[in-house]
Parts: sequence; C-alpha cells; structure tokens
Amino acid sequence: MHELKQRILAAASDDLDAIEKELADNLKPHLDLVREVAGHILFSGGKRLRPLLMVLSARMCDYDGTYDKTFSTALEYLHTATLLHDDLVDEATLRRGKAVAHSKWGNPIAVLVGDYLLARALSISAGTGSLRVIQILADLTENMSQGEVHQLMRKGDIDLTEEEYLQVIRSKTAVLFEAACRVSAVIADASLEKEKALADFGFNLGIAFQIADDLLDYTLQTADFGKEVGADLREGKLTLPVIHALAQAPPDDRRRMVQIIQDPSFSEGDFKILIAQLEKHGGLSYAEKTAQAYIDRAKISLSVFDSSRAKDTMLDIADYALARRV
Ligand code: IPE
Ligand code: IPE
Ligand code: MG
Ligand code: MG
Ligand code: MG
Repeated sequence: MHELKQRILAAASDDLDAIEKELADNLKPHLDLVREVAGHILFSGGKRLRPLLMVLSARMCDYDGTYDKTFSTALEYLHTATLLHDDLVDEATLRRGKAVAHSKWGNPIAVLVGDYLLARALSISAGTGSLRVIQILADLTENMSQGEVHQLMRKGDIDLTEEEYLQVIRSKTAVLFEAACRVSAVIADASLEKEKALADFGFNLGIAFQIADDLLDYTLQTADFGKEVGADLREGKLTLPVIHALAQAPPDDRRRMVQIIQDPSFSEGDFKILIAQLEKHGGLSYAEKTAQAYIDRAKISLSVFDSSRAKDTMLDIADYALARRV
C-alpha cells in the first residue's frame, strides 16, 4: 500500500470506524428497499474523505461537542446522493467496482433514493441548530447541481477552455470539500480567520481532487479504479489533459485527436492513440502540475493553525488527492 495512504489510515482509523458506525446508525428509512439501494452504494468502499476532513477540521478548531461524527455523515450522504444522480447522468456502469444502482434497480429508484439521502443530509444538518450550517449545505448543493448542468451544456464541445473547465469543477466538486472543512469551524465557533483558512484548504483540495480524478480516467485500469476508465471521453466530457493537449497540438495531431473525441464508438486502439497524444503534447503532465499547484495552495492556507496530529493528517490527505490510485 502507498506509504501516504498507510499513514492516513493509521492516524485516522478510530475516526473512520466511528464515521462508519454513524453512517449505519443514521440511515433510517422506513422502507427496506430504500435501505437496500442506499446500502448498495453507501457501504461499498468509499474513501470517506469528506466526513474525515470534517472531523479533522473540527479537531483543529478544538471542537468539544459530541455531534461531529454524526454531522460528518451529512457530508457523506450528500456525496452519495450526488453519485447516484451522477452515475445516471453519466450513464456509468461501475462505481467502487460494483454495478451502479440504476442498472440494478432502474433510474426512478436511483433518483428517489438520491433524494432521500439528500434529505437525510439536511435533517442531520438541522440537528446542529445552526442556520448557517444549513445555509452552507443548501448553497453547496445548489452549486453542485448547477456544476453538473454546466458540464452537460458543454458536452462534446472541443473548444471548452481551461477556465470554463475549472469553473465546472469548482462547482461540482470543490464546493463540497470546501463546505466539509468550513462547517467544522462554524460548529466549533472558531474565529473567522480559521474558518476561512479551512474553507480555502477544502476548496483548493477539491479542485486538485477532481483534476486528479480526471487524470486517473486516462492513466489507470478499470479494475483498479473501480470506475470504467475512458468513461469521460465516451460521454464527451473534455477534461484538463485533453483541453491542454488540444491547445498545444499542431493542426495534424489536433485533427487526429478531435476525430477520436467525436467518435462515440472509439476503439481500444483509438483510446491508446489519444493517450499517446495526451502524453506527446503534455496534457497529462500539465494536469498533474496544475493539481499539484492547488495542493500547495491548500497546504499553505493551513499555516494559521499550530501543528498537531490532525493537521498533519489533513496535509497528508492533501498530498493523497493526487497520489491516490483509487
Ligand atoms: C468521486 O469522489 C467523485 C468525484 C468528485 C471525483 P470520491 O473519489 O471521493 O469517491 P468515493 O466516495 O471514494 O468512492
Ligand atoms: C464528479 O464528477 C461527480 C460529482 C461531483 C457528483 P465525475 O463524473 O467525474 O465523477 P466520477 O468519475 O463519476 O466519480
Ligand atoms: Mg461520473
Ligand atoms: Mg459526472
Ligand atoms: Mg471521474
């Protein structure tokens, strides 16, 4: 196992166990079918990064209450709801190495169980008694859904710019990481300076995390990723490696790439050619370098906090966003 991952797991094992227990305890549907479908995706090996970031951020803010683990489930339920909906929108086949929920139970059930999980997240937020916390969750959900819509609006557009790509991933991914870190400061009644530092950390980490996810779609094997690699290309989703390579390539290579991108039934061989083009024109290394820059920015924002075990693990998680292989 990767040394970084091992260190994070060792430092966070008690927190992760507590989060896992809360996730099971707080899912309270009165229908067995809802429990079955939610359970299918919820307990299938997610990394639990968002609840873990929330719990660690709370510790960094000297939170002394007892609601942090419970509250952290709101972030995972919300994340899981967006995955149920995202897999349907993306016509995905695999998630965490298992068949996606909508292929097993159909689209209506997947949508409705997603709604159920979203409502659980709001209900658990209400348990904080803090309107600000509820507002943060509502705002981020508005952002995420619009980020997903924005992405769909640009489906197949080979003129998508890096700036617009970044705008999409800020909305669909970074705001959730931002909120996971920010709400802890709110719950712990920490200073605005600390709240802003944690929010900046989460936001920049989230951007790096999505760039890395988009990179892994070209560099991993399906069996390792647990999601079908090449899926972004198949669904016409242009991500940073492709956007950069298209901008750098001379006309001949660009034409070759566009041909593959615009062919929905591209072959395995075409996919390999495209990856070679991404390498040739620096698309993969550029995406990696960009993600690293966001990670560096995230880490710097934590400098307002004294050193602690929780902070060290947060810094490790920042590095893991790019080093991860799942
Ligand atoms: C997947 O998130 C969705 C993205 C933002 C790319 P994760 O990679 O955190 O998914 P799980 O929960 O660990 O499966
Ligand atoms: C992230 O986008 C998903 C959400 C923000 C809901 P992707 O579509 O890239 O995520 P994966 O690759 O399916 O996990
Ligand atoms: Mg997807
Ligand atoms: Mg998607
Ligand atoms: Mg992806």
